[in-house]
Amino acid sequence: MNLKDLYIQFFIEKGHKQIPSAPVVPENDPSVLFNTAGMQPLIPYLMGQPHPYGTRLCDYQKCVRTNDLDAVGDVTHHTFFEMLGNWSLGDYFKQDSIAWSFEFLTTRLHIPLDRLAVTVFAGNDTIPFDQESYEKWLSLGIPSSRIAKTVEDNFWIAGESGPCGPDTEIFYFRSEEEIPTTFDPEDDRWVEIWNNVFMQYYKDTDGTVSELPHKNVDTGMGVERTTAILEGVNDNYLSSIFKDMIDLIVRISGTPYEGEAKKSMRIIADHMRTAVFISADPAGIRPSNTDQGYILRRLIRRAIRHAKKLNMDMSTPWEEEIATLILQKYKSYYKELEENAAIVLEVLKKEKEQFNRTLEKGLKEFEKATKDTTIVDATTAFHLYDTYGFPIELTVELASERGITVDEEGFAQKFKEHQELSRTASAGKFKGGLAGDGEMETKYHTATHLLNAALKVVVGPDVHQRGSNITAERMRFDFSCDHKLSDEEKKRTEDLVNQWIQEGLDVTVKEMKKEDAIASGAECMFIEKYPDVVTVYEIGTVSRELCGGPHVHNTKELGTFRIKKEEASSAGVRRIKAVLE
Ligand code: ALA
Repeated sequence: MNLKDLYIQFFIEKGHKQIPSAPVVPENDPSVLFNTAGMQPLIPYLMGQPHPYGTRLCDYQKCVRTNDLDAVGDVTHHTFFEMLGNWSLGDYFKQDSIAWSFEFLTTRLHIPLDRLAVTVFAGNDTIPFDQESYEKWLSLGIPSSRIAKTVEDNFWIAGESGPCGPDTEIFYFRSEEEIPTTFDPEDDRWVEIWNNVFMQYYKDTDGTVSELPHKNVDTGMGVERTTAILEGVNDNYLSSIFKDMIDLIVRISGTPYEGEAKKSMRIIADHMRTAVFISADPAGIRPSNTDQGYILRRLIRRAIRHAKKLNMDMSTPWEEEIATLILQKYKSYYKELEENAAIVLEVLKKEKEQFNRTLEKGLKEFEKATKDTTIVDATTAFHLYDTYGFPIELTVELASERGITVDEEGFAQKFKEHQELSRTASAGKFKGGLAGDGEMETKYHTATHLLNAALKVVVGPDVHQRGSNITAERMRFDFSCDHKLSDEEKKRTEDLVNQWIQEGLDVTVKEMKKEDAIASGAECMFIEKYPDVVTVYEIGTVSRELCGGPHVHNTKELGTFRIKKEEASSAGVRRIKAVLE
C-alpha cells in the first residue's frame, strides 16, 4: 500500500472522516491563486463553523506553490505536491495528535525510533513553552537530546493572518552517516516530514491575536518528500512518484538522466505534472496572461524550453505521452483527471504549438539583443515577453546560462502597467483577506444554484456544473454543454432565475444520508468523495444540491440577476459570467 492509502486508512481507524481534496484553485477565496496547504480549504471550519463531516477529518490535498518556481530543478523542490492532513475541530488536542503521529510513523511506516527527532515551541513573551508536547514526546520514548526547543520555526500561520498556533515538527535522519545523539534542527541531514499545529489563535490583518472558539489540530505531511525518504532515495525524482516520468523523458529524449540533463528532466517532470493538475481542475483554468492562467502558461512554456534543450522533437506528441502517464498515475485519486483528460491534452498541445511558433524567433532575438551586453534591459525583457511569449523566468534562465543578468525590477514595473490595463474586468480581485463569505458572496452562492437549475430546464437535464468562482462583484459558472447558448436560451435562463427570485423561495438545509440524497436527485460535482452523511441545500422545489453553504434564507434577497457573458471555457464546457444588481 502506498503512503497516501496507509495514512487515510490509519486516520479513519482513529475515527476520522476522509474529506475530498478541494480543487487546486480555491472555490470562493479570491485572496490566493492556489491552495498551498491542506488547511486552506478548511479555514472557515478552523474558525468555528461546524463542518458537515464532523470534528475529525483527514485527507490528501493537492497543492500548488509557485514562489519557488525558479528552484525547481534541484532534488527536492516541486511546484505541485500532495499534502496529507488530519484535523481536529475542537475535538482531540496535543495528547492524541502526538500519540497518533508517533504510532503511524513507527508502527505503519516502520521508522526506527532512532531516526526520529522533534521540535517543540520554546515560548515567547505572549505564548508559553509547550511543556505538554515536550512531555508527551518524552513519554513515547523520544530522548530529551532529540527534542529541540525553538521559537521561530515552531509557530505556524499561512501567510500574514488567519488561524495559527504553536506546532511540533517531526524530523527524519536522512543519511547513511552515524546518527548524532543530539538533534540539531539546522543540520540538514535531519529532514522535516510532519508538522502538527496546535491551532488555537487567530491573527487579524492588523496583528491582533485572539483565541479561537475552540482548539484545533492541523497537521501536514508532504507526500513527495516522505515517499522519497521511505524509499531511501535522496533525489525525489528517483522515488516511485517521479521515476517513471523521468524514465519516459529519458526514452523520448534519448538522453540519460545525468549531468546537466538532470535539471531539465526534473523541470519537465515537475512542471508537466503541475500543468496537468491545474488544467484538469474544475475551475477551468486555461493558459493566459493573467492570474492562474499565467502560472499555467509559464509552467508549460518552461517545460517546453527544457524539452527543446534536450533536443526533444517538437513535431512529435511528447507532451501527450508524458501527460498521459501522469493522468494514469493519479486518476484513481482524482476523478477530474479522468473526466478532463481530453481537455488537458488539448491545452498542452495548443500551448506547445503556439509557443513553438515563436520560441525559435525569440531565442534568436535574445541572442541578438544580448550579444554585446552583460545586462538584459527591461525593454528587451518586456519585448521578449510581449512579442515572443517569453515569461520572465525564461529570460532570466537564458541569461544566467550565459552569465548575464536581467533588469527584473524594470520588467516587473512594465509588466504591472500592462496587466493593470488588461485586467480592468477583474478589478477588485486581489483585495486580500480571508475567503469572502460576505453578504454578496453568499448571495452569489445561492444565485449559482438557481442558475444551475435554470440551465437544466432551458438547455436540458444533461447540464452539470464544472466549476464556479465567486467574488463580491460577480459570479462565474462553468457547465457541461456542447453548444454556444442562443440569445433566446440566455434570455429564458435569465428570466427563469429572476422569476424564482421574485417568487421568494425559501432556502432550507438538511442533513441526509448520501444514498438518499443521490436518490432524491440532488446535484453535486464529485459524489463518490462525499461522506455518508451530507448537507443538502434546497431552494423551494426548484433546486437541490449537496453543498457546504452558506446561502441566503430566501431568494427575495438576491435582487436582479443578469447574464453578462456566455463563452466557451474549454471543449464541451461553457462559461457564464453574471451579476446581481
Ligand atoms: N498547515 C501546516 C503546514 O502546512 C500543517 O505545515
